[in-house]
Amino acid sequence: MKYKRVVITRHGSRDVLQVVEDNLPEPQSGQVRVKVLATGAAFTDVLMREGLYPDLPGVPFSPGYDIVGTVDQVGDGVSTPKVGQVVVAMTIIGGYAEYICLPAQDVVPVPRGVDPIEAVCLVLSYVAAYQMLHRVAKVKRGERILIHGAGGAVGSALLQLGKLKALEMFGTASQRKHEFVSSLGGIPIDYKTDDFVQRIQELTGDGVDVVFDGIGGSYLGRSYRTLRPKGRLVNYGFSSTLGFKRGRFFRLVSSLAQVSFLNLLADGRMSVFYSIALDKESYPDWFQEDLNALLNLLSEQKIKPAIAYKIPLIEAVRAHELLDSFGAMGKIILLCGNGLDNGCNG
Ligand SMILES: NC(=O)c1ccc[n+]([C@@H]2O[C@H](COP(=O)([O-])OP(=O)(O)OC[C@H]3O[C@@H](n4cnc5c(N)ncnc54)[C@H](OP(=O)(O)O)[C@@H]3O)[C@@H](O)[C@H]2O)c1
Repeated sequence: MKYKRVVITRHGSRDVLQVVEDNLPEPQSGQVRVKVLATGAAFTDVLMREGLYPDLPGVPFSPGYDIVGTVDQVGDGVSTPKVGQVVVAMTIIGGYAEYICLPAQDVVPVPRGVDPIEAVCLVLSYVAAYQMLHRVAKVKRGERILIHGAGGAVGSALLQLGKLKALEMFGTASQRKHEFVSSLGGIPIDYKTDDFVQRIQELTGDGVDVVFDGIGGSYLGRSYRTLRPKGRLVNYGFSSTLGFKRGRFFRLVSSLAQVSFLNLLADGRMSVFYSIALDKESYPDWFQEDLNALLNLLSEQKIKPAIAYKIPLIEAVRAHELLDSFGAMGKIILLCGNGLDNGCNG
């Protein structure tokens, strides 16, 4: 039997994405095969497409950081999960596919009653937001935070989770996303027309306790300047590097160096780089624990991921068009099959 997947054929713009057909893989010992219902399309996939993500396999390969689906076959020695169980997983690569084989211990059951499409939103964007808030910045009730890219997938997750902790929240976003940011409890700042450092001073008087910065580059030093004494800068991305045709790699490395350099200032404030993939490698228990905590929050309806678009997998180019232009408010989901066949709402 054949199945479809989307591959990056070479590094570059979105036209490098191609739909291919392969023979259905058999799960090896200790693996499960998942019939994928949906996968997230994230800005991180754009970095992979452009060859700016560490430790990528050679082309062609499928991107796709997270999946939700139904276990349809298990390999030798696998007792759980069972065939038919709906599961989510952080795949990092390979998610843009109708089927994927994964180690059984890497998949997490989705509780009954939880919408699988909402569940897949949690894996990358919400776990990252949750870990940055609680494991890295260790926010305390009522603290003041600044979120860059507040209208995006991670930004909107930070807002929802920050609200549960009664944080006072500010978020940079382009004008058309301001209503969205406000609806999630953030005070929007238009980074295109205003200097966010000055605006934070005007709005707060003495700055914020934590900044979440996925933009990198020249933002890092400016984000640091908005911090109060004992403030924390959490850098988790470098989307600004994509604005440059040349020297992207250099800009990326110098951004990382800046994060370490800021700590040398020893002025009571600190900066730290966060990566969900590195954290999962170092603390695998945290990932499972935090994802389960989020699945519980979802089943208790305390969080509701903002899904901006549901697009068929084979139209992944359209999803990347939206990612390239920051066109979405919240998460973009790629649906396998026609979505309806697979239990998705379309
Ligand atoms: N380290 C990790 O573990 C980890 C995990 C997940 C994601 N990431 C990274 O985090 C970043 C955000 O990811 P995402 O999935 O949330 O992406 P996303 O959904 O595309 O959101 C990014 C948001 O940033 C806004 N933006 C763009 N330029 C901006 C600027 N100069 N100032 C302020 N806002 C700006 C965009 O829209 P507007 O310009 O319209 O406001 C967009 O809403 C990416 O760099 C991604 O690679 C890292």
